[in-house]
Amino acid sequence: MATIERRPHANTPRAFARVRRRERCETIPRNLCAARFACGVGVRCLGEPSARARQWRSQALKTAHDITRRAPAVERVERVARSMSAQPVDGADAAATPATGGEQIVTPWDVEGADGQGVDYDKLIKEFGCSKITAEMVERIERVTGMKAHPFLRRGMFFAHREMDLILDAYEKGEKFYLYTGRGPSSESLHLGHLIPFHFTAWLQKAFKVPLVIQLTDDEKFLWKDMALEECERLGRENAKDIIACGFDPKRTFIFSDVNYMCTPIYKNMMKIAKCVTLNQVRGIFGFTGESNIGQVGFPPTQAAPSFPDCFPHMFGENKKSLRCLIPCAIDQDPYFRMTRDVAPRIGGYKPALIESRFFPALKGESGKMSASDATSAIYVTDTAKEIKNKVNKYAFSGGQLTVEDHRRIGGNLDVDISWKWLNFFLDDDEELAKIGEEYSSGRMLSGEIKAKLIETLVPIVEHHQAIRNSVDDAQIDAFMSTQPRVFASLFGDMGDIAGALDEATLANTKPGIAIGAPAADDDGVKKSQQTQAQTGENGEPMSKSQQKKLLKEAQIAEKKAKQAEEKAKKKAEAEAAN
Ligand code: TYM
Repeated sequence: MATIERRPHANTPRAFARVRRRERCETIPRNLCAARFACGVGVRCLGEPSARARQWRSQALKTAHDITRRAPAVERVERVARSMSAQPVDGADAAATPATGGEQIVTPWDVEGADGQGVDYDKLIKEFGCSKITAEMVERIERVTGMKAHPFLRRGMFFAHREMDLILDAYEKGEKFYLYTGRGPSSESLHLGHLIPFHFTAWLQKAFKVPLVIQLTDDEKFLWKDMALEECERLGRENAKDIIACGFDPKRTFIFSDVNYMCTPIYKNMMKIAKCVTLNQVRGIFGFTGESNIGQVGFPPTQAAPSFPDCFPHMFGENKKSLRCLIPCAIDQDPYFRMTRDVAPRIGGYKPALIESRFFPALKGESGKMSASDATSAIYVTDTAKEIKNKVNKYAFSGGQLTVEDHRRIGGNLDVDISWKWLNFFLDDDEELAKIGEEYSSGRMLSGEIKAKLIETLVPIVEHHQAIRNSVDDAQIDAFMSTQPRVFASLFGDMGDIAGALDEATLANTKPGIAIGAPAADDDGVKKSQQTQAQTGENGEPMSKSQQKKLLKEAQIAEKKAKQAEEKAKKKAEAEAAN
């Protein structure tokens, strides 16, 4: 029988922090309750937590809750600004989500604020050990991309990150990176909350001009839901239409279903990751119990693996360090990537960076994530204008007062009003948003009026989405899911336009199935790159990296010149036709 090591010295918060530091462990959330850490993340132990650990936990649970106060009029202006999260950082959230001393639950499957309150994001940042996105970082993103920050970024919806600064450093030095995000296809259509990371990812792709992989975890949903595998697969394809409707560049985007794409490169990465993670660790990170099926327990490496570029040889080649990875998602997915980041150096990859959003709140109040299975908690991308109107009017939690007189005197409570919160996500115009906040919190605007404003904002967005989604056909989905090798250089920057002919030019020199012109695999002592072997020079010898680079550069220049010549000829023909 395997020995389970007991380390009672790690059963106090300080000792725990010591172990965490020593083991450079990101998988142990900093403030995870004593009972949980004593039972196992990174710190292996046997049996019950110590009396001290139990005492520490119960003290935490007893901490008094802050009760939202009615803000006096003089504070109102500040509250509007704070509630809009125009400057997202430095405690702005504390007002929106009352601090709680109890436990909140945020996992990829459950989101619950403490005692029915909203999620305390400041606390979450501390527990998970990620960093706040500062105003300086938002400015830096604007500077390096030359684009105004997306409203989700400038209003603090994307509020936390892990090593986003490293991505920006690398990008400024001319290094490349790719984006990775995903969807677990458990329902026919997405709700508005699901659109948040996809809209933001589409913006990131445009701003940084980088490739993207989107994982459809049909296997995950099969393991967690009472659904046939084939049904999950079908839903994945349906959901892909909604994802495509968010505006991704087909040349730079690869969408894949786990069930269909499970090929050697991703499987190899999953195995390497799986070997580094113990059962105790996944129990601690994800809360698995003896009742969890073994597919669930073994699933995390599947979501971790796409953080490494060599899972996608047809996009990025076979080099694990060819690219860094940036993952946009809501913070519920953080546990997967804490685990991934811990493992990354051990399997020879970069730690993936993350940019994480708060949750788009449920219609009935901010106590958790929207649920795809509760129609009254969410608006779906398939809802009609009439359904949107009815749902908002009937279910949107209001921060308005009970009587019109009280409302005019006290004003609406922006901290809890869902129409206001949703407008923060979806109303583009900053000035108009600030005005609505001021009018509503001062009592000049009534609850029905702010709801009407929300309906007026949402309906065109949803109708626009539906129009694009309805135009997505099978051929388009197949193109996004194609594993046809892409031209590596064409995935980045303005090189996207030169794809076509470069294919032909370098295909002969590239191994089948491998991205054309991708950096050769690292010889990490295990095997020499097959791609390097395939890319042979005139003398039949494998080409060096610099020879390959030179060849690629020549091909790119030739391609650019051909394109310029073509454009020139086209203009000439047009001018002649006009004469
Ligand atoms: P899923 O399908 O639950 O959610 C898809 C994406 O939507 C985010 N999300 C939300 N964002 C804001 N507000 C909400 N109310 C809300 N609800 C969900 C999720 O964080 C996610 O980004 N296992 C994943 C699929 C996945 C994935 C990934 C996600 C696979 N690889 C990499 C992110 C990054 C899942 O079931 O997501």
